[in-house]
Amino acid sequence: MKEKLELILKAAMEEINKASTIQELEDAKLKYLSRKGELNSIKKNLKDLSDEDKRIVGSLANEVYNKLDSLISERNNEFYKIELDKKLKSEKIDITLPSDFRPQGKIHPLTQTVNEIVEIFQGLGFSVMPSEYSPEVETEYINFDMLNFPPDHPAKDMQDTFYTKVAPNVILRSQTSGAQIRQMLNQKPPVRVISPGRVYRCESVSARKNNLFHQIEGLLVDKDITFADLKGILNEFVRIYFGSSRPTRFRASYFPFTEPSAEVDVQCIMCEGKGCRTCSGTGWLEVLGAGMVHPNVLRNVGIDPEVYSGFAFGMGVERLTMLKYAINDIRLFFNNDTRFLKQF
Ligand code: DAH
Repeated sequence: MKEKLELILKAAMEEINKASTIQELEDAKLKYLSRKGELNSIKKNLKDLSDEDKRIVGSLANEVYNKLDSLISERNNEFYKIELDKKLKSEKIDITLPSDFRPQGKIHPLTQTVNEIVEIFQGLGFSVMPSEYSPEVETEYINFDMLNFPPDHPAKDMQDTFYTKVAPNVILRSQTSGAQIRQMLNQKPPVRVISPGRVYRCESVSARKNNLFHQIEGLLVDKDITFADLKGILNEFVRIYFGSSRPTRFRASYFPFTEPSAEVDVQCIMCEGKGCRTCSGTGWLEVLGAGMVHPNVLRNVGIDPEVYSGFAFGMGVERLTMLKYAINDIRLFFNNDTRFLKQF
């Protein structure tokens, strides 16, 4: 039996070493090591031997089993490595290949301007008004009446304002100034806020006008606020936004909700004040409207104008963006043409 075991060992080793596929290896394992395999059939015959021989042959059979078993797993590992090598080679990634082109999204230039202006005013101590104080669908009452527009003011005309069918006197707001009213109805002074948002006007669309555009409204109300505070804050804003070397001027103007009212101009960025088409020959560009909050407006929201005073301002986001980047057509902001948008 000992010889028989040695023969099995020799034959099995040969077969295992010769195996050139995993399948052949499996076959060899089945043939020699399984329950019905050759090694087990020897073990079955052990019962006919003497105790002494049983022990010798038994332990020899175990030895042979272990030898073959470890040889098989060794060869199995070899096959596994070969397979892995093959796989790694066939799936090799060439990192020198140029990558796929993935278009990258950008922040819209108008949003960039809003973000920039919001940041400037935050630096000057203003916070952004809660958006619920600035709905785009607004009442005539807030958009005009509370802001001291006389009932027959031309801006209320159907020509300028979009009226809705929701209810009489419900409009698409024509300015962000109504946000001032909602803010002051909800918060007593001191108030120091800005409010960016969309506004709508019923106008024919051209290179200079769109019937949807964006404004940023500002409001500061406290005790002892004067026109000097207004000038200080707005000069600082224009200085940061357009650069400190650009001259500004304050020009007397009229808005129903401010008294006195002013418009702020910067020196034309195209001609440096000499006069050109962009500035209609004046050398100046209007960038925002402002003024001291009208006492009637303060009264309308229950703030005593004898105790408090304040200033307000409003600016057009499209206009400020067009001036900064010398863009000559407002419609470019709304066409979603990526050739335009990707320049920002
Ligand atoms: N609402 C004005 C407009 O749409 C802009 C404006 C002017 C806002 C003066 C103000 C202001 O707050 O004080 O033309």
